[in-house]
Amino acid sequence: MNIGAYSMNWTKNILVTGGAGFIGSHVVRLLVNKYSDYRIINLDKLTYAGNLNNLTDISVSDQHIFLKDDICDTSRIKQIFDEYQITDVIHLAAESHVDRSIERPMEFVMTNVVGTVNLLQCAKDAWSNDFSKHVFHHVSTDEVYGSLGAEGLFEETTAYDPRSPYSSSKASSDHFVRAFHHTYGLQIKISNCSNNYGSHQFPEKLIPLMINNIVHNKPLPIYGKGDNIRDWLWVEDHANAIDAIFHEGSAGESYNVGGLNEWTNIELVKYLCNTMDTKLGRSKGESEKLITYVVDRAGHDMRYAIDASKLEAELNWKPSLEFEEGLDKTVDWYLANTKWIDQITSGSYKEYYETMYQNK
Ligand code: NAD
Ligand code: TYD
Repeated sequence: MNIGAYSMNWTKNILVTGGAGFIGSHVVRLLVNKYSDYRIINLDKLTYAGNLNNLTDISVSDQHIFLKDDICDTSRIKQIFDEYQITDVIHLAAESHVDRSIERPMEFVMTNVVGTVNLLQCAKDAWSNDFSKHVFHHVSTDEVYGSLGAEGLFEETTAYDPRSPYSSSKASSDHFVRAFHHTYGLQIKISNCSNNYGSHQFPEKLIPLMINNIVHNKPLPIYGKGDNIRDWLWVEDHANAIDAIFHEGSAGESYNVGGLNEWTNIELVKYLCNTMDTKLGRSKGESEKLITYVVDRAGHDMRYAIDASKLEAELNWKPSLEFEEGLDKTVDWYLANTKWIDQITSGSYKEYYETMYQNK
């Protein structure tokens, strides 16, 4: 069946990669709900991090098509560009966890570097008649800039200095995306966002891991002294930023995304413990007793902090929520969605958790 024949009805056919993951599912939700004239082709390999239960409230329809595929599969990606008459790409598919990248760097090279170049090549081939009508938006991270000391913020002009296998693979993909702009004329946009938090995040990352462990009275593993700093942004504010950059950002440009919201890991976990003591009806200080200092992450970046003034000034974006409010909503979501988390934390998650934390 030539599904492309229906594309006349849609003003855009957007290929969203990684749309069953944490941030990708929020991006798909935003696009499907906000733009009824866009067709969203959601492509995801469904690795351990991809989860169709992240999309239960967005029905699969003519407007939202789900494809279980790998961004590294050249012939299949070419076929998808052709069959669905893809007009634009928003690329989020990636291996995304630093700790896993330390164990298995090659998987990060394959998906984050090779997969991205494969998508770029397919987009270039499909759009070569007129690049000006098409956008390739690459979703990247602030971790490409490396690690800050006590002062300063990452700006778009900060030199890349990635230090983990994860950030190195993302930095490499950013360079390829830019190269396809300068060399071939592809209309690319790159967003570099700080740490996200919110609903549907896989519980290998700090905030959902801590929430889940607090609920189950399990130790709260703090790497090193807990004094590393991250700059946290609510995932829906990131999705709004992607929407703004995809539509209004200048081609060839990068935009930093962040909310000036720095926390040391230990302050954040203590705050979470207090919040959850109240919600779970525990006495004050009870959950904090679960805090356990463990061996530090190898090459642990000290501090990330984003200057998002370009995005604010040029595209009028700003975060919609204060962190305390966003964290409150997030905790409530995890407490209300025990089925979602139970499904994830059974099976291979247990194996991962034991391997990752047994020697710490
Ligand atoms: P995630 O791990 O939750 O989701 C990644 C998704 O990509 C999963 O659904 C997975 O199945 C899919 N995927 C992995 N390999 C694939 C492949 N070869 N082909 C097709 N699909 C594949 O990640 P996330 O936290 O949602 O991050 C999404 C993007 O945003 C990533 O590119 C990440 O680098 C970037 N980012 C994340 C954060 C953060 O705090 N989580 C911050 C800034 C930028
Ligand atoms: P993480 O959520 O993995 O994001 P990233 O490393 O990409 O910033 O980790 C956030 C911070 O929390 C980071 O400094 C490492 C730390 N951390 C812990 O202390 N314990 C944990 O169990 C995890 C997963 C992270």
